[in-house]
Amino acid sequence: MSNYHIKHLEEYFQVYRKSVRNPEGFWEEIAEEHFNWRKKWNKVLSWDFDKPEVKWFEGAKLNITENCLDRHIPTRGNKTAILFEPNNPNEEAQHITYNELHERVCRMANVLLSKGVKKGDRVCIYLPMIPELAVSLLACARIGAIHSVVFAGFSANALSTRINDSDCKMVICSDGSFRGNKTIDLKVIVDKGLEDCPGVETVLVVKRTNTEVTMKEGRDLWMHPLLDVAESNLEAELMDAEDPLFILYTSGSTGQPKGMVHTTAGYMVYTAYTFKNAFQYKEEDVYWCTADIGWITGHSYIVYGPLANGATTVMFEGVPSYPDYGRFWQIVEKHKINQFYTAPTAIRALAKEKLEFVEKYDLSSLKVIGSVGEPINEEAWHWYNNNVGRKKSPIIDTWWQTETGGIMITPIPYVTPTTPTYATLPFIGIQPALMDENGKEIEGNQVDGRLCIKFPWPSIARTIWGNHQRYKDTYFSAYKNMYFTGDGALRDAVGYYRITGRVDDVIIVSGHNLGTAPIEDSINEHPAVAESAIVGFPHDVKGNALYGYVILKEMGEDRNKENLKKEINQQITEQIGPIAKLDKIQFVPGLPKTRSGKIMRRILRKIASKDTSNLGDTSTLLNPEVVQDIMDNAL
Ligand code: WT7
Repeated sequence: MSNYHIKHLEEYFQVYRKSVRNPEGFWEEIAEEHFNWRKKWNKVLSWDFDKPEVKWFEGAKLNITENCLDRHIPTRGNKTAILFEPNNPNEEAQHITYNELHERVCRMANVLLSKGVKKGDRVCIYLPMIPELAVSLLACARIGAIHSVVFAGFSANALSTRINDSDCKMVICSDGSFRGNKTIDLKVIVDKGLEDCPGVETVLVVKRTNTEVTMKEGRDLWMHPLLDVAESNLEAELMDAEDPLFILYTSGSTGQPKGMVHTTAGYMVYTAYTFKNAFQYKEEDVYWCTADIGWITGHSYIVYGPLANGATTVMFEGVPSYPDYGRFWQIVEKHKINQFYTAPTAIRALAKEKLEFVEKYDLSSLKVIGSVGEPINEEAWHWYNNNVGRKKSPIIDTWWQTETGGIMITPIPYVTPTTPTYATLPFIGIQPALMDENGKEIEGNQVDGRLCIKFPWPSIARTIWGNHQRYKDTYFSAYKNMYFTGDGALRDAVGYYRITGRVDDVIIVSGHNLGTAPIEDSINEHPAVAESAIVGFPHDVKGNALYGYVILKEMGEDRNKENLKKEINQQITEQIGPIAKLDKIQFVPGLPKTRSGKIMRRILRKIASKDTSNLGDTSTLLNPEVVQDIMDNAL
C-alpha cells in the first residue's frame, strides 16, 4: 500500500525520507494506486534543470475530468461535489452532486466543441465565482482545450493582454457579477478588452445579474440556451500526461505577465495528494477555500485537488464584509465547514472588526484552518488561532506559488506541531535549499537565505507560454540546478521554515502578486509623468501597500496635485485593475539611481516604511542629493 494518507509525525518522516531517496518509486506508487489511467507511463520522471525540462509520467494517457468526475459516479454520484453559496445570503445555496456536475461539464464541453474549440486551443475564462466557472475549467479539460482563467477583477486592458499572449479563440464570461452590494458590468469590460483581440471568434455569455448587455452579432452567444440543447454526455478526450491543462498568468518583476503552463498528470497527482494530507480531508467533510478560482489557489484547491478526492468543495460568490463582517463565520456555521482556507489579508481585515462578528457563530465543525498567499504575521496568526480555530483546530500556513502548482511547505494538521508564522516542514517529495548570495547552499539550521528547490516535484510549471527563455532566466538561472522561488526564508533550530518575503521586485498586496514594472509603465503613460518608481510598505490589513514616487514633466508642475494623484490611480485601475492602485503618491524631483542607471529601491523602500535611521551604503549613487529631498517630503 502506498502512503496516500499520512496520520502521524513518525509516518511523515518515514514517508518523506522515502520520497527523497526514491522519488520515482514513491510517486509511481501514489499515481498507480489512486488514479485512473487509460494507459500507464513508460517513464516516471525525466528532468534537466539546465534546459530546463521536466516530464512526469511520460507516455501515460488519461483525462483529468475522468479522475475528478467519472470515477466517483458509482460510489459518490449523489454526494455534493460543489456547494455554491451565493453573494446574497437570502438566495438559496446550490448543492451540485457529482452526477449533476458530470452532466453539466459534458453539456458545456459539447457546446465548446460545437463552436469549433479543439484539443490544444486556448479558451479564456472571465467569470465571477459561480458554478459555471468551475464547470468551464472542467469542460475545457474534458475536450483537451487549454483554459486560461483571468480573475474577473482585472481590467479590460489586462484581459486583452492575456487573451492575446496565448491567442485565445474563445472567451467565456457573464453579463455581470455580484460583489457585496455592488453589481459589476463584466460584459462591458470584456467588450472593451476585445476591441484589441482580433483572434477571438466566439464569446459565450453566462447570465447571472440580468444586466443589459450588448451582444455582438456573429461573435457573442448566450450560454444557457446552448447548454439546454447540448448532449448530456461526452466521452473524455484522451490526453498525454504532459499535455498542457491550463495557463495561468502571474506577475513578474519586469514586463508582461507570465503565462505559467501546467500539464496534466503530474499536476493532478500532486494537487490531489497535497489536498488529502494538508487538509486531512475525510469522506464526509465539507471543505471551503475562500480564494477566487482566478488564482492558482482556486484552480488547485477549489477545483482539481478536492474533486480528484471526491470531496465536497464550497464556492462562495461574495465578499467577507457583506452583508456584514460575520459573513464567513455565518457560512461556516450554515454549512458546517470542516476545513477552512483563506488569506492573511482577509484575516487581518476581519480581526479589525468587533469580535461579536465571529463569536456569535457556532464554529465547532472546524477541524483545520489554513492560510496562504503571504507571510501571516504573529498577531493575525493568534487572532485566527484564538477566535476561529478556538485553539483546537490547527492552523496550516501553506507556502507555495502559481509556479509550483501545489502546496510546498506546510504543517500536516494533527501531525506536525505548529509554530506561529512558520510554514514548518517541506511537504512529501519537496527538497528545499537555502542559498547564499554567492550561489552556495547554506547547510545546517538557524540560517537564512534564498529559498530554492533542488529536485522536481510533479506539479512544477513546465514553461512560460511562448517564452521558454524567460522561464529559464527567471527560475533556473540564479542558481545552478535549482528552481529559484524569488522568496527569502529562514530555517530554525528544528528545521522549520519561515518565509520572510519576496527578494525581487514583486510586491504582495492583499495576497495578490504585483510586479512593479507594469504598474510603473502604467503611471508613466500619464502625459504629465516623466518617470516613476513604486515600492511596498507595511500595511496593517493588506500586508503591503504601494507607495509611488513620481517625477513630473514640466507641464505637470502647475497642475493640481490631488487631481493628478486621482488621475494616476484611475489610469492604473483601467490598465491593470483596482488592486494595483497606489495608497500614497509622492511627487519627487528625482529618483536615487546607481551609476548604471538602476533605481535604488532599497532606499525608497526604507523611506516609504519610515525606517530611515540607516539607509545603508549610498556611495554608489549618482544623485545622492535627491535622497534628502525625498525624505523631507515623505508621506
Ligand atoms: C508568492 C506566490 C500560492 C497561492 C497564492 C499565491 C507568497 C504564498 C505564502 C505563505 C509566506 C507566501 C510568496 C510566494 N506566499 N504563500 N504561506 N507564507 N509567503 O500565489 O500569487 O503565485 O504568489 O506568495 O512570496 O512566492 P502567487
